[in-house]
Amino acid sequence: MAKFITLTEMVRQARHNLDRNVWDYLVGSAETESSQKRNRYGLDAWVFRPRILNDVSTVVARTPVLGMAARLPVIMPPLGSCQLFEPGGATTVARACQDFGVMQIVSSACLPDFEAVARDVPGPKIYQLYLLGDQAWMDDIIHRAIAAGYTGFCLTADTQVYSRRERDLLKRWGPPSGRQTTHTTGFGTQAAMSWDTVAHVKETFDIPLILKGVSVAEDARRCVEAGVDVVYVSNHGGRQLDHTRACIDALVEVVAAVEGRVPVWVDGGFQRGADVVKALCLGASAVGMGRFEGLALAAGGAPALVRALEILEHEITTAMALAGIARLEDLGPSLVERAGAMGQADVLGGFPLLDQGY
Ligand SMILES: Cc1cc2nc3c(=O)[nH]c(=O)nc-3n(C[C@H](O)[C@H](O)[C@H](O)COP(=O)(O)O)c2cc1C
Repeated sequence: MAKFITLTEMVRQARHNLDRNVWDYLVGSAETESSQKRNRYGLDAWVFRPRILNDVSTVVARTPVLGMAARLPVIMPPLGSCQLFEPGGATTVARACQDFGVMQIVSSACLPDFEAVARDVPGPKIYQLYLLGDQAWMDDIIHRAIAAGYTGFCLTADTQVYSRRERDLLKRWGPPSGRQTTHTTGFGTQAAMSWDTVAHVKETFDIPLILKGVSVAEDARRCVEAGVDVVYVSNHGGRQLDHTRACIDALVEVVAAVEGRVPVWVDGGFQRGADVVKALCLGASAVGMGRFEGLALAAGGAPALVRALEILEHEITTAMALAGIARLEDLGPSLVERAGAMGQADVLGGFPLLDQGY
């Protein structure tokens, strides 16, 4: 793999390496893809109010993320079927995350399975589970995840049924993770998941619980009351419910509702360092980057993901310096304002040539 120096080169390489089905699965989303576009419109709409004449000779973006001394306030979120992007799948992501120093959430819908990933690459990691069995089945898996060394457990609440991914349906194609459910409305017992599930996990297990897929203040408050340890704002990268708000806008409402009681994470449309800095200004403690993770993996496995994270780190520290901020704790809402979106959003966030539709 040639050493790329821009994220644009990384995306070009991923496009070159992936066949059309897998590319569309990775970059596409649900139905009209409006939620995905709004994620980008929202991010483009927030602009900086930079400060000047602060000493930014040393900018530090290291921060703890769920107990891990992370090199960036960034997480690699769960990607089902990520073995399609690179044969090593979740283990390759784990290696890159360990080499670079960011938190990974391993999906239950990818290969290798969570126990193999933890065995091959020990260290802090979160396990995300889709419920495909009864409570005893879920309990058994959580016990095994804890025994395997996982340091956090994540339930994804925006995927109670599998959405209509039209790019895939048009081609009569589906990834392994969606194959059983693509033409039906059910997602196993995931559809019956409720606040009782959350209460049960909190009562039964001593492992931090991350609830992924929160988008409104009412649910965020309920998460805090239920003892959820991290409220994770997400619309699944626009891959589930069509016509949702941009996650960066939902973040503002959720941060206000949570009132600092637990960390708030966010994902949805984040592709660049400046995107990440905007979310940190608005109160997120960490930012997930799903397409970024998949594209880097496809561009050249673990070395490419490490390289992409190095470039992202440079973008984040550059954006902070140019906004006049040297420390993460000095980022705040006064550094951004909502200015309205400019023209057409490109869903890959600055890689317009690659968003050629289907
Ligand atoms: C190919 C792909 C597979 C995904 N699989 C899962 C999954 O198994 N579990 C889950 O909670 N989220 C899954 N997601 C959603 C991501 O975890 C994350 O929420 C989303 O990608 C964030 O949006 P972004 O891609 O614009 O960064 C998936 C996303 C992509 C792109």
